[in-house]
Formats: sequence, structure tokens, C-alpha cells
Amino acid sequence: MTKGQILRVKINKLAFGGSGIGILEDGKKVFVEGVIPGDVVSARVRRSKKNYVEADLIEVVEPSPSRIKPKCKHFPLCGGCFWQMLPYEEQLKFKQEQVKEALKFTGGFKDTDTLVRPIIGCKDPWFYRNKMEFSFGNSSKDDPDLRLGLHPRGKHIDVFDIEECFLQSEKVAKILARVRDFAKKNNLSFDKLSSLYVRDSKNTGEIMINLVTCVDFPLQKEFVEIFADMPEVVSIYWSLVTKKRGIKTQIQEFLLAGKPTIREELTTEDGTVLKFKISPQAFFQPNTRQAEILYSEAIKAAGLTGAEVVFDLYCGTGTIGLFCAHKAKKIYGLEINESAIKNAKQNAILNGIENSWFKAGDVDKNILEIPDTPDVVIVDPPRAGLGEKVVLKIVDFKPKVVVYVSCDPANLARDLKIFETQGYKVEYVQPVDMFPHTYHIENVARVAISM
Ligand SMILES: C[S@@+](CC[C@H](N)C(=O)[O-])C[C@H]1O[C@@H](n2cnc3c(N)ncnc32)[C@H](O)[C@@H]1O
Repeated sequence: MTKGQILRVKINKLAFGGSGIGILEDGKKVFVEGVIPGDVVSARVRRSKKNYVEADLIEVVEPSPSRIKPKCKHFPLCGGCFWQMLPYEEQLKFKQEQVKEALKFTGGFKDTDTLVRPIIGCKDPWFYRNKMEFSFGNSSKDDPDLRLGLHPRGKHIDVFDIEECFLQSEKVAKILARVRDFAKKNNLSFDKLSSLYVRDSKNTGEIMINLVTCVDFPLQKEFVEIFADMPEVVSIYWSLVTKKRGIKTQIQEFLLAGKPTIREELTTEDGTVLKFKISPQAFFQPNTRQAEILYSEAIKAAGLTGAEVVFDLYCGTGTIGLFCAHKAKKIYGLEINESAIKNAKQNAILNGIENSWFKAGDVDKNILEIPDTPDVVIVDPPRAGLGEKVVLKIVDFKPKVVVYVSCDPANLARDLKIFETQGYKVEYVQPVDMFPHTYHIENVARVAISM
């Protein structure tokens, strides 16, 4: 098989990462993007390896009977929603299978049919995101016009204008149009503007705007004025990014108008409404409605009775810990981002929670600074997962239960395998779909001591 060769292949399944997989006559796997199982496609070989081939889609010759009409006019150009042509129920089935496969092939787990519980999907798979980052740029290097939107699929520099988007909210297109017009009227150059963050609280309706530039931005008053008739925009920031060779990128935040944080609310299973203050750089689960389900699953997995000391590692703004505080003796949260920890402390006060402790620090370096011994450890690390070093540090505390919240099935499987070698048993893995129309999958695993 050589580069440039044209193939015709039937797609059988989806791989983690979103590509479709077909099998060639010689048994080799071929990976093609932008296709779904059941499609017969023609594709051009981009890379040929010993065991597999990567090919670029030329056309769908016979569409899969499962294909549906994508909702958004920017599909398939946009890199945002990968699977709009696949019915949501089918997306969930593939995600369920991918979790099982990761546990089997990366983790070496055998009985994945019973280990992995049925995935919990979203009631409404549209308008679910509470935060999005849009980029300034141009559509190609010859395009003189400023664009504000997203990158085309597979590209990192080019930008196309977003005129509609079903991921965040209807208001976003309006905000983008205003900011785009403002930038054009004031002859702002796209290489001086970097990005626009929009945070949109699903349960309070509050919106935060954060304009990021790489040069000074004197039009602050004028920028604020473009949102004058939008009372839901309660916080407007300008962030200045300074990049110098050999020096860590610096971000300075300036509050231009309104409040320093926006509020979001999450409801626990017993109906308690928790309030959260979120600052521009703090991590908050991007799907608010599904975060309530994810956190309820994490608490269920923790099996709390009210007597337990709980470590909430990689705690962000303290959401998981605060969610379980009423069912625990004490909650200890550790998180690297200082402003998230500031928010976590404010959030504890805001919700009248007195049995919590939060500290800014690196889990790897500062875990021993937590002044207690846990009965339960809840972890929610970034995509790379815990890794062996951190798993072993957690195991040293001998917690009875570890609840592992993960956004990467393969790295989760790798880490769960390490827990099993250390006298722990993985009791179950619960997939929760936080990101419809994308290949991302979140999981909650319950790991219990078995010696
Ligand atoms: C997936 S988020 C989870 C946040 C939180 N549990 C939630 O649900 O909102 C991962 C968090 O880990 C933090 N983080 C990344 N590396 C870290 C480290 N080495 N030590 C502590 N926290 C870290 C990030 O800042 C981020 O807030």
C-alpha cells in the first residue's frame, strides 16, 4: 500500500479519537475520519504502516443506513462536533464499546461486559456547553478579512466565522457577531487578537466574556458598550498574553466591567442547590446538566456514610468535594490552579460548608501536605491521568475506596491496572456522556481495597 493510493473500503466501527475503521482485503486496518460504520467510502492513503493505514476521505460512495442530516450548517467543516451525522443513541453505543475495549486492551481486564455499566447519556444532547473558546484569525493565509469562530477540522491556524452553533447557546452567535463587527469597525488586526472566551451558566443565565489579546487593548470602554443591552453579560474581562522566548507565557487579567466571577448552580440528588463562583481561568465541568449526574455517580461510588475523611484530588473549584461534604466527616481538596482554589474556598463559604479544606498545590509534590489520612480518595485528573507515581502515592495512604473520574479511557485503564497490582479491585466503571457529538467519554470507576 503506497501513499496516494486510492482505496474503497467499508467502515465497520469507530475508534477512540473519532476515526472510522475498515478492514482491507489483506487484513490491515484502515483509519478514515468523517465516516461512520456502514459507510462505504473511497479514500486516499496518507500514511501506510506495517499494521495499519491512514487515509483521507474522498467521498462516501454508499452512505450507512444510520446516517442522519447534520443539524449545523458548519458541518463537516467545523472541528467542534464530529458525529452530527450519527444518531445520538448510536454515538452512545460506540462510546460504551470504546470504554470496554480500552479496559480490555490497555488494562488487561477480562469481564468488561459486567465491569462496564451502561453509559448514561444526556437528556438533551444540544446546547450543553457552558464554556467555549473562539479564535480570531483568517480563513487562509491569503484571506485579508478578520474571522472569529472555530478552526476547521484538523487545522490549528485557519479560522472560519461561526454563524450558528448548537453546542453552547443561541446567544453565542449574537455575541460573536457583535465582537466581529466591533473588531472590523475598529480595524483591529487578527494577529493582535487571540481569542474570545464565553462562559454561559446554564442554571443562572449569567454570562462572562473574556477577550484575549497579545497587545495592549485601549478600546476597553467601547468593548464593554457593545454588551450594554445584554444584562445577562455580568462579567467582562480583557486578558493580555505575553509570550517571550525562554520565558513562561504570562497572562494578565483585567476586569473591564461587572463582577469578577459568574455564578453557576448544581443540584445534588437530594435536591440541595449548591452555588459556585467561577473565575475566568478556573476549570468547571463544561456540561453543567451532566456534571450533576457525573458528581452524583462519583458520590454513589464513594459509598459515604458521613464518617469518612475524603480527599478530593485535582479538585478544580471544589465541585466534587462540596457535592459530598454533607455525606462526609471532612473533605480535603488539592488543586494546582490558585484561582480555582480561591473559588473553592469562596464556594464552601457561599454554601455554608464548614467541613472542607482546600489548598493550591501539585498532587504529585504536595499530597503529603494534606493533614489527614483518607478513607476515600476521589481523583479527577486531566487527560494524562494519574500515572504510576501518583497511583503509588495514593495507595500509600491505604484508602478503603478510590473513585477515579476520568476523561480518557485508555489512561484510566492503564492506571486501574496499577491499582489492581497494589491490592485493589476495580468493582465497576460507569461511563457518563458529557460531550455529545464528539468522541470524548467520561468515566467514574470504583476501586476498593481487597486485602
Ligand atoms: C478534569 S479537571 C477536574 C476539576 C474538578 N474535579 C471538577 O470536576 O470541576 C482537572 C483539574 O486538575 C488540575 N490539575 C492539573 N494538574 C494538576 C496537578 N499536577 N496537581 C493538582 N491539580 C492539577 C487542573 O487545574 C484542573 O482543575
